[in-house]
Amino acid sequence: MPTKIVIGAQWGDEGKGKTIDILAASSDVVVRTSGGNNAGHTIEADGVTYKLQLLPSGILNPRTLNIIGVGVVVDPKVLLTEIDGMEGQGISTKNLKIDARAHVIMPYHIALDALSEKARGAGDIGTTKKGIGPCYVDKTERCGIRICDLINPDKFRKMVCDNLKIKNKVIELVYGGEPFDAEQIIEEYSKYAKRLAPYVTDTTPLLYEAVKNDKRVLFEGAQGILLDIDFGTYPYVTSSHPISGGVCVGSGIGPNMIDECIGVLKGYVTRVGNGPFPTELNDETGEAIRQNGHEFGTVTGRPRRTGWFDAVIAKYAVRTNSLTSIVLNKIDPLGGIGKIKICVAYEKEGKVITDFPPTLEELAKCKPIYEELDGWTGDISNVKDFYELPIAAQNYVHRIEELCECKVSSIGVGPGRDQNINL
Ligand code: GDP
Ligand code: IMO
Ligand code: MG
Repeated sequence: MPTKIVIGAQWGDEGKGKTIDILAASSDVVVRTSGGNNAGHTIEADGVTYKLQLLPSGILNPRTLNIIGVGVVVDPKVLLTEIDGMEGQGISTKNLKIDARAHVIMPYHIALDALSEKARGAGDIGTTKKGIGPCYVDKTERCGIRICDLINPDKFRKMVCDNLKIKNKVIELVYGGEPFDAEQIIEEYSKYAKRLAPYVTDTTPLLYEAVKNDKRVLFEGAQGILLDIDFGTYPYVTSSHPISGGVCVGSGIGPNMIDECIGVLKGYVTRVGNGPFPTELNDETGEAIRQNGHEFGTVTGRPRRTGWFDAVIAKYAVRTNSLTSIVLNKIDPLGGIGKIKICVAYEKEGKVITDFPPTLEELAKCKPIYEELDGWTGDISNVKDFYELPIAAQNYVHRIEELCECKVSSIGVGPGRDQNINL
């Protein structure tokens, strides 16, 4: 059963989209299992840049079945804009299936995301304000509207009216915001429902049959381990489970049907939004990495915070996701920045720590312990063979492998499909 999970092993934006797109060429099915349009997965193919938020990154391959699984939260308007964008560029979306159980992001979720962030003041999370958190809140509160409800006119009408009785009170009385009009929402969303209905189905038998019949299935992670609601830097996290365990609940497949779990990391670390970041560089080296790596958010355009590679985080990701291999993207932006540091452990109150701490209080006491390696100069973006890389770059990759106790199977030297070196 050649099933592979491809998961973010830092704070997101590790280049998962590119990696999935490369693997999709030899995949029959690609499945998104968590998050929503907080994700921004960039693919550069044949000179064109695609920025996908909800569509699985297998969409560019006409033979691939693309599934939006039960664990995803779907903003219908955003999904339809993406579908139209693809179709407009001659890319068919006929192989897209949306699970009937996936939850719908409603306009009041988006409003509540912004209002609650504002109310948090200086302690805000720095969310993407796409309504992700409030939608997952409703899912667990058991008042959420699912795709199957969206396409059922009578049920949808009742659910919107019932929800707004409460949501409008919270919006107006707690936050001082503007209430929503049920009829307006129903009218707008009924149009989306009609257009999305042909894509909606129970995706779980399709997936089960695909795995049983030895089809090549890829599970496309969104976000990254440190944004996981339980295993991330809570509360500076997203509201879903980006770790490998999340794939099972987000798709309806059991763990014994997964063969490989590939963690995607960058040769350095980035983070968008607020929260701790032990190896953050607030200096000209951090700026050089940001510029070389074009580290600006795909979804919000915010400059990404940058820092040195953190092997404590990488080891945590290897362990918590049971990674079988690592794709190390974006080592090319490190060229020409001088000596390169790797955080090999943390020092906490005089002790050396190699396990990522579970609380922010403990993390705040941790100081990175760095090892310094030689850097390299020159453009490596056209290198095709590992042994053609500068020796310093080879050493960097080997040291990361050693520290993570996990093999690196591929190295990214540029954003294009042909810019990965397989080991
Ligand atoms: P994702 O959210 O994990 O899919 O990553 P994003 O697409 O948000 O961010 C990664 C960015 O880096 C995108 O602009 C990619 O095109 C780009 N990228 C991916 N791999 C590489 C690489 O190896 N080198 C360079 N220079 N850019 C890369
Ligand atoms: P991909 O799939 C990077 C971050 C936000 C914020 C926190 C919570 O492209 O790697 P949310 O809107 O989810 O409630 O925001 O999570 N965040 C991401 N950061 N990449 C992502 O996705 C992210 N999705 C959410 O910036 O800090
Ligand atoms: Mg991204």
